[in-house]
Amino acid sequence: MEFINVNSAIDTRIALIQLNRPNELNALNLQLMSELRDALKELDKDDNVHVIIITGNEKAFAAGADIKQMAGKTTIDMWKMDQFSTWEQIRKTKKPLIAAVSGFALGGGCELAMTCDLVVASETAKFGQPEINIGVMPGAGGTQRLTKAIGKVRAMEMVLTGKFISAQEALDYGLINKVVPVELYLEAAVSLAKKISSMSPIAVQLAKEAVNRSFETHLDQGLILERKNFYLAFASEDQKEGMQAFIEKRKAVFKGK
Ligand code: CAA
Repeated sequence: MEFINVNSAIDTRIALIQLNRPNELNALNLQLMSELRDALKELDKDDNVHVIIITGNEKAFAAGADIKQMAGKTTIDMWKMDQFSTWEQIRKTKKPLIAAVSGFALGGGCELAMTCDLVVASETAKFGQPEINIGVMPGAGGTQRLTKAIGKVRAMEMVLTGKFISAQEALDYGLINKVVPVELYLEAAVSLAKKISSMSPIAVQLAKEAVNRSFETHLDQGLILERKNFYLAFASEDQKEGMQAFIEKRKAVFKGK
């Protein structure tokens, strides 16, 4: 059984991955996460793809890790299963990831959206870390990324009470980029992807790495990586083209070289 669909023809340079376990509200079981990791690895290598959108369906982006798959497990089972190594690999995707969220983005679903680089949501989206309701806590970055995105007291309330927030609240808190009517959320994600995919893919990937580094390191080290990546961009033809086009007052044509 395949739990994800990959559509690389959604638009030039944009690939769409759709999570596809609708009967389980796209609960993220091991198989789905492995398929997602493999698809991202392939798309990351494909020069024709500049931006990747991850979406679910109208009712659910993903309602979290698969509770039925975990319910009877012991600590040692969970340790051997090592489900989070898959997440680590997903996190290393070099190309920008946009989450197009409608409906539930809960637990691992919220964490997956936060692992993406940009999040577009429909008005019906609900974000939450409800693991506390089932006697556990977030395990795929929720306590860290949520706190950095929306601040300690809001994150604490969501994590300790399991409270859901609406798309509008998520926008107000700085968790997501955009809220649109439900019929437009995918279109809005594609439009954002199109804008990014018109840029130099080299500069985009260097910039993504540098922004993400700010979550992982002290300012000094982050600034060192930023500077190195900035200099590295000067090794590309795209940098010469981009700056020359500016001087000549014309639109740059980037080649990813
Ligand atoms: N795991 C497994 N199955 C799930 C699931 C999950 N996380 N979420 C929903 N489902 C299944 C339900 O069991 C149900 O299946 P059946 O029809 O076979 O009973 C089906 O999806 C539809 O769900 P509901 O009938 O519950 O739908 P609803 O509209 O009444 O409620 C909901 C929706 C509020 C999202 C509710 O399904 C829910 O609370 N889901 C669990 C959310 C959750 O706790 N997520 C955190 C998981 S742990 C985690 O993610 C750890 C981590 O950090 C990695």
